[in-house]
Amino acid sequence: MDCCFKESPFPFENKGGFLGHDGSLRFRVPILRNITKTAPYFHNGAVDKLEEAVGIMSKYQIGDEFTPKQIDDVVAFLKTLEGELVEY
Ligand code: HEM
Repeated sequence: MDCCFKESPFPFENKGGFLGHDGSLRFRVPILRNITKTAPYFHNGAVDKLEEAVGIMSKYQIGDEFTPKQIDDVVAFLKTLEGELVEY
């Protein structure tokens, strides 16, 4: 599917049909609890560092590029979401 991200070049290939069932653009995303412990990030595990994942989110989802300090602040917040890892 090449309907999306033309104006906002999300930096991933659409591998595995992550744009949703029947191209609905609706799909479940992981919660952020324990996000500090669950690298690599995104549906394809393309990003190893949480700072980089937050930078990508700020650019492509919020439309604003966070400064390194803002990224560090968000990562500090995400660290507060740590808890016991649940076995799957
Ligand atoms: C400061 C705000 C945000 C932060 C810190 C953030 C953080 C993250 C992180 C760390 C991931 C990776 C999750 C994982 O791999 O387990 C993620 C994925 C995702 N986020 Fe955000 N996010 C933010 C805002 C948003 C917004 C505003 C949207 C949409 C309106 C959004 C949509 C998504 C989607 C669709 C994914 C999955 C992408 C993929 O797997 O390829 N995020 N986010």
